[in-house]
Amino acid sequence: MESLSTGIEELDTLIDGGYPKGKSILVTGPPGSGKTILGLHFLHRSCAEGKKCVLILTRELTEDVRLQSKNLGMDIGPFVDSGQLLINNIFEDKINKLKSTARFGKGLCAVDTDIIEYLSSTASGADVVVIDNIGMMAIDHEAREFADKFSSISILLLKSGCTSLFIMDDDSYTLTHGLPGSMVFGTMKLIVKENLSVGRTKQYLYIQKMRNKPVPIKYSLYIITQAGIKIVNGIR
Ligand SMILES: Nc1ncnc2c1ncn2[C@@H]1O[C@H](COP(=O)(O)OP(=O)(O)O)[C@@H](O)[C@H]1O
Ligand SMILES: [Mg+2]
Repeated sequence: MESLSTGIEELDTLIDGGYPKGKSILVTGPPGSGKTILGLHFLHRSCAEGKKCVLILTRELTEDVRLQSKNLGMDIGPFVDSGQLLINNIFEDKINKLKSTARFGKGLCAVDTDIIEYLSSTASGADVVVIDNIGMMAIDHEAREFADKFSSISILLLKSGCTSLFIMDDDSYTLTHGLPGSMVFGTMKLIVKENLSVGRTKQYLYIQKMRNKPVPIKYSLYIITQAGIKIVNGIR
C-alpha cells in the first residue's frame, strides 16, 4: 500500500514507509508529549514534497505553532506564505468574531461545525490534513454524539482522498470512551513515563494499530531534540 513519509525517518521504517495514503491516523498523548511536533514533521515533509496541506488548529495560536516549527528547523512559514499550506485557526477566528467582552470565552469549545464547514470547502484540494487538536470536540459532546461528528469528518476526509492525522489529548480520548480509535485506519499513542526517583521521564511511541501494515516493534523510545522527535530505538 502506498505511504506518505511521516517526516521522521525512523518512524517511516517502523510503519513500513509511513502513513497509509488516503487514510486517517489518530495520535493521542498527554500535554507536552510531542503531538504538535509530530504533526509538524508530517506537514513540513509533505509541503517539501510539493503536496497541498491543511492544518486545523483548535487551541493554539497560529503564530506560536509557526514559531515552534521554525525553532525545530522545519519552518512552515514559507509554505503558508506561498499558499501551499492552509492554516485554519478555529480558536482565533472565534475570538475575533466575539464583539462584546461580555461574551468572551463563550462557545470556544464548539469546533465541530467549523471543522466540517472548513473541510467541506478545502479537503478536496488537499493531499494532507492535520487536525490539532480534535479533542476540543469531545468536551461539549456526549461520547455517541462525538462519535457521529468524528465519523462525519473522517468520511469527508476519506472521500477526498486526504492522508490525515487526528491529534487528540489523552484526557479527551478518555471522555470519548476510545470510540475514535475504532473509526480510523491506525492509532499511535505517545506515552510519558515519569520516574520520580531519578527525576527523569521516558517517552514511548506505541503503534497500537496500523491496518495492512506489518508493525514488528510496537513500543519505541523517543526523545524530543532541537530537530524534533527522534526515535532512539525500535528500528527493525
Ligand atoms: N528544542 C527542544 N529540545 C527539547 N525538547 C523540546 C524542544 N522543543 C520542544 N521540546 C519539547 O516538546 C514539548 C512540546 O511538544 P508539543 O508537540 O508542543 O506537545 P503537545 O503534545 O502538547 O502538542 C515541550 O514540552 C518540550 O519539552
Ligand atoms: Mg499540541
